[in-house]
Amino acid sequence: MEKKVAIFRKEHFNAAHRLFVPEWSDEKNREVFGKCSNPHYHGHNYELIVKVTGVPDPTTGYVVNLSVLSDLIGKEVLAKFDHKNLNLDTKEFAHLNPTAENIVVVIYEMLRSKIDPKLDLSVRLYETERNFVEYPVSLTVDG
Ligand code: NI
Repeated sequence: MEKKVAIFRKEHFNAAHRLFVPEWSDEKNREVFGKCSNPHYHGHNYELIVKVTGVPDPTTGYVVNLSVLSDLIGKEVLAKFDHKNLNLDTKEFAHLNPTAENIVVVIYEMLRSKIDPKLDLSVRLYETERNFVEYPVSLTVDG
């Protein structure tokens, strides 16, 4: 039986955002999103963990070359989001609330089309040390 192995690459970016629903009053936005709805934005130090799962190539022994994966994340994700205001500086969140949930799905989509379809991909995003999201949803607790 072919043995699947998961490999992980951790990356980091800083970005500002504001969570709000444009149709709502400032008051209602504050009620729902709290400090994350501060009209003048605020920043997070996002930790991004990209997980690729597959059978190691019989010749190289690699599931995926980590340096190639790192370059891909840098080009597709970090170059677009690092040190940016997600609401104002990115097309992805011009009309989409930049919650951790929405950000992780957007990052997954950015990477999915660039990674060999026979490899599984999942993305975990830490907005703070204690608050993090994952997409797609894994069935095991430790992912
Ligand atoms: Ni926030």
